[in-house]
Amino acid sequence: MSNLQAEMKQAVALAAVEQIQNGMVVGLGSGSTAALMIQALGSKIASGQLKNVVGVPTSFQGEVLAGDLGIPLKSLNSVGQIDLAIDGADEVDPSFQLIKGGGACHVQEKLVATMAQRFVVVVDSTKIVERLNVDFLLPVEVLPGAWITVKKTLEELGSECVLRMGIRKAGPVVTDQGNLILDVRITGGIDDPVQLESKINNIPGVLENGLFVNLTDEVLVGEIIDGVAGVRSLPKA
Ligand code: 5RP
Repeated sequence: MSNLQAEMKQAVALAAVEQIQNGMVVGLGSGSTAALMIQALGSKIASGQLKNVVGVPTSFQGEVLAGDLGIPLKSLNSVGQIDLAIDGADEVDPSFQLIKGGGACHVQEKLVATMAQRFVVVVDSTKIVERLNVDFLLPVEVLPGAWITVKKTLEELGSECVLRMGIRKAGPVVTDQGNLILDVRITGGIDDPVQLESKINNIPGVLENGLFVNLTDEVLVGEIIDGVAGVRSLPKA
């Protein structure tokens, strides 16, 4: 990550935390931008600027980080509702449809975003695209016993798929749920994210894909203008 990208991520993470109010139940996203947001939230709780905030993590990463920072946590099953969820994304299109799952956390991230009254996405300007899946591959979480059959079915639908492999680990990435990830490229990019999300999730053996459709209320974008990091709320097309 470049220094400029790190500055954009930090700026947008701080801006998002401003939306958290006392007493809120907050969905805590995953990835490097969400981690900066969790750190900023932890600082505000520690300094007494925010009180009675409860976090609902979307990954092992978020649970450990928030726990270390002393942020009170609850599980998805134990909260009636989530007031606000804040999370990163890998790609954002003009209609606020997203690709997520670069960190293989999209199953829990989608559950939390769906339960939230308000879902705010925090990205740096490199994540804004005209068309999804031209550059970033679409993550699909699959049951380990079904990955080959799911891969064949996805290829028959006109895509290329690769099993995501671990780094400093022999073998595949294993998700927080114990499953595997297929990274998928649809030839020419994604025409209809709403239709494709359901189509992929209907393949037996698929747990969840990284298309987040019609879930996002606001996209905060960190950008560099005249050498200085700032944040704007992206207008929806
Ligand atoms: C993890 C995600 C992340 O939010 C996404 O990959 C963006 O990560 P980063 O903020 O590190 O760029 O979906 O599953």
